[in-house]
Amino acid sequence: MTAEVGVIGTGVMGSNLARNLARNLADRAGARVAVYDRDVGRARAVAQEHPDADFLVAESPADLADRLSGPRVAILMVNAGPATDSAISDLLQVFEAGDIIVDGGNSLFTDSISRGRQAEAAGIEFVGVGISGGEIGALEGPSMMVGGTELAWARLRPILEPVAAEANRESCIAHVGTDGAGHFVKMIHNGIEYADMQLIAEAFAVLRGRLGLTPPEIAEVFREWNLGDLESYLIEITAEVLAHTDEATGEAFVDIIADSAGAKGTGGWTVKTGLDLGVPVSTIAEAVSARSLSAASVLRSSGPALDGPRPTAGGARDDGTAASAIKEPDAVVETVRRALFTGKILAYVQGFHEIAAGSQEYGWTTDLGEVARIWRAGCIIRARLLDRIAGAYETDPDLSSLLADPHVQDALNAGQQSLREVVADAATHGVPVPALASALGYFDGIRTTRASAALVQAQRDFFGSHTYARADRAGTFHTLWAGDRSETKL
Ligand code: 6PG
Repeated sequence: MTAEVGVIGTGVMGSNLARNLARNLADRAGARVAVYDRDVGRARAVAQEHPDADFLVAESPADLADRLSGPRVAILMVNAGPATDSAISDLLQVFEAGDIIVDGGNSLFTDSISRGRQAEAAGIEFVGVGISGGEIGALEGPSMMVGGTELAWARLRPILEPVAAEANRESCIAHVGTDGAGHFVKMIHNGIEYADMQLIAEAFAVLRGRLGLTPPEIAEVFREWNLGDLESYLIEITAEVLAHTDEATGEAFVDIIADSAGAKGTGGWTVKTGLDLGVPVSTIAEAVSARSLSAASVLRSSGPALDGPRPTAGGARDDGTAASAIKEPDAVVETVRRALFTGKILAYVQGFHEIAAGSQEYGWTTDLGEVARIWRAGCIIRARLLDRIAGAYETDPDLSSLLADPHVQDALNAGQQSLREVVADAATHGVPVPALASALGYFDGIRTTRASAALVQAQRDFFGSHTYARADRAGTFHTLWAGDRSETKL
């Protein structure tokens, strides 16, 4: 008995994807899925729990290789890092030229590039697939970003396409380039995810700190927001989280969760890679830093000694005035909504800029419109905004930046004043909104014709003869700052 595809790693993501594959392959051609786990007992238990999936349980990598019909396809659903390396080296010993190893984990794209080279030496195809959608997505239809050769994509497409989510009847899977492209695009997805989550959390902090709204009231606000431009999975789940109360105390559940956020690294990779590529991703960077700051308990232990206005959860401020005394709270809620939408667009502008730069650097020719299309369903950042972004690239596939799209410009122009007001008000009243503030700084930095860079260039030239360009004529110049201050054209 042979299987069409193997899944290695039967944790929740792996077993759910395997079940999804089994359902779809059986529907199509009666084909089966083999599962393998280093903990064979776990793989057996998964097979027993889901008899409908009719899994073939492999006892070892060699047994898996025997059970797969060729050219073999194995999908790794193991932790990124050493576990992935070790699973690949197991497979390289038992797979043959023409077989395909797919890494469906959250691997660093440069690791995928190196692993691809390693596999290539043995004539084996290595494909890095970014899979988004969490546990439910893996089972019901994730969004998938595929990086690998055209040949491997042609073989994988019929296996993976049916398991992906669908948006407007289009499958949310795309071949986004060779080698590391799939994991690169997934990395940016996660960077945007970090920014989106942080922006939403800041909107919550403002509504609470300035208007004194309770979490269930804010849940209601978010539910309403989810009917408009901000419609997204993240807004939807945030409303659910905020409406949830602790059974024991009746308190808002969000208040009993420790205020310290974790991170597995993909947001940080987006920022580091952005720095390497020279792409400003400041809102994503602030979202990553906000998580680090939240977890920096030593730093935060000095908080009480530091002066400034302190909004409290109930909205009362240090000076005794209730934030809820703010006039026209509905207008403030609308201002916060617009500010959040504006910040969110700017986070996407940064993310798409980084994909364009990565694609150019690594020669992937990633289709940015396709990326927007496959993010419309299945993944964590699925959102109505992606229709607009997909539309922008449909109108102009060679769009130099999302900022060049007239609809994106209109949306930003309509929201910028609200972003300004929310950031200014939050700063005045001590509500930390680093992601919103950075989005505003990014926006103004782009708009300002002459900002602060000319002076920085002069400073660099002063202390390090780093030279500068002039605005009024071509060439490279240096001023003898320590001498007679004459200018030299180099
Ligand atoms: C997804 C998620 C998923 C995972 C993140 C969480 O697209 O399905 O992004 O990949 O939930 O890696 O990352 P952090 O633990 O760093 O928040």
